[in-house]
Amino acid sequence: MVTRRRVLGAGLAATGVGFTGAALLPALKARGAASAPTPRAQAAAATVELYRVPMPKVPVLAPVSTAGGTDTYEVTMRTARKEIFPGLQTELRTFDGHFPGPTIKARRGRPVVIRQRNTLDVHTSVHLHGAALPQSEDGAPMDTIAPGAERLYTYPNKQPHASLWYHDHAHHLESENVYRGLHGSYLLTDDEEEALPLPKGEHDVLIGIRDAHFDATGALVYQMGDRARSTLLVNGAPYPYFEVDARSYRLRLANCSNQRILQLRLEDDGDMVQIGSDGGLLKHPSTVKSLYLSSGERADVVIDFSRYPVGTKLVLKNTFGNAEAGQVMRFDVVRTAEDESSVPSRLRALPPLPKPTAERTVVLRMDEGAHPDPKAYLDEKVYDHHRIDQRVRFGASEIWTVTNANGRIPHNFHLHLVQFRVLERNGKAPAPGERGLKDTVLLLPGETVKLQATFDTYQGEYVYHCHMLDHSAMGMMATMKIA
Ligand code: C2O
Ligand code: CU
Ligand code: CU
Repeated sequence: MVTRRRVLGAGLAATGVGFTGAALLPALKARGAASAPTPRAQAAAATVELYRVPMPKVPVLAPVSTAGGTDTYEVTMRTARKEIFPGLQTELRTFDGHFPGPTIKARRGRPVVIRQRNTLDVHTSVHLHGAALPQSEDGAPMDTIAPGAERLYTYPNKQPHASLWYHDHAHHLESENVYRGLHGSYLLTDDEEEALPLPKGEHDVLIGIRDAHFDATGALVYQMGDRARSTLLVNGAPYPYFEVDARSYRLRLANCSNQRILQLRLEDDGDMVQIGSDGGLLKHPSTVKSLYLSSGERADVVIDFSRYPVGTKLVLKNTFGNAEAGQVMRFDVVRTAEDESSVPSRLRALPPLPKPTAERTVVLRMDEGAHPDPKAYLDEKVYDHHRIDQRVRFGASEIWTVTNANGRIPHNFHLHLVQFRVLERNGKAPAPGERGLKDTVLLLPGETVKLQATFDTYQGEYVYHCHMLDHSAMGMMATMKIA
């Protein structure tokens, strides 16, 4: 097997607004050619060979106590150094020294309490993305933990199973904090999910994908809107290989990138059976050749590696955006194995869609093209935490029509507190993979998505925003008040 030496991070000069759309490639190239490379871009040279490191298994955090029917955890946010590239040390902002953060496994109906200690020199706020939580536990942008301080987060876990994730959300800092490592998975299960014969145990694997820009010393480079984040990391390792048995695996894909959109496919265009999305299992599995995953989105797929002879090496590709991030990782089929798992044709019952009681529109837009101080807007306003942008009646089920008003820049849309349903994409029924519960939805340039959300869990103030974190940090965020 030939491995190709790659230069990482040697991308375009990282100026202006970040574009990640495939449609933007010609524009990107033209811009790159026209502008002189910055010293940073020239110097970027941390190198790694493709498929030389094994895919790390993300550790599962052990509770310090399980007394009283509650799982209690202690986590320290701290700086850590990791050898991401052979011989180089990368400084990271971590949960408990792990990159990505340790996985927390939770069960519906069983509360989790986490003591988060912040020993970093920046404010943080720990948000549990996709969860229905009281406002005080949501990890809101202004509800931060100061350097040296700590606080408890209590998660009631009343909602159905879902592959949730947690990440920093401190106002204006979230983009850099998440980029530097403050993100991890929170896998909530329930009886309904566990009763299914899906692949389990070591055949149920988290695959957290994100991009990054490293300099020649292996240090992470953070610049708002950086288009040179062209190194892909899987569970914290660059372009790893993963040795699999020739049988079915459940792969929990998550896009933890700051703003990269992925379109994942196997290099042989082999089938992937999508079984879940942000808010847990789909009603029915859906066989796909590729799937989109924008920043913050998750998708569970089952891949049956028994269709490949032992010895097969199969690359997982990304076919969206710049070609330098066109490969993600490689599956190496190394041994035959028994397989007792299967994917039932009916996976779950979705909660009913009540008759909607209100309709609203939301417009996402940011300054496009050359701009000295580009801003990003939600309904033409920059985020102001003093302002309530939408008032929602507690118990209401609403239709929100969300439009990306940009011609060249993709966005996505994330609502805190709720798992919603996508009713329409550009006036048509959504693809099967978008028919389950979602908390984040992709909007390519010019697209409109109609979604329905029911606000019947908690009252209070919650944000909604584009989950391309450079955009939300630039203002593409707003507040809804449920009362
Ligand atoms: Cu992933 Cu406002 O959150
Ligand atoms: Cu969230
Ligand atoms: Cu955006």
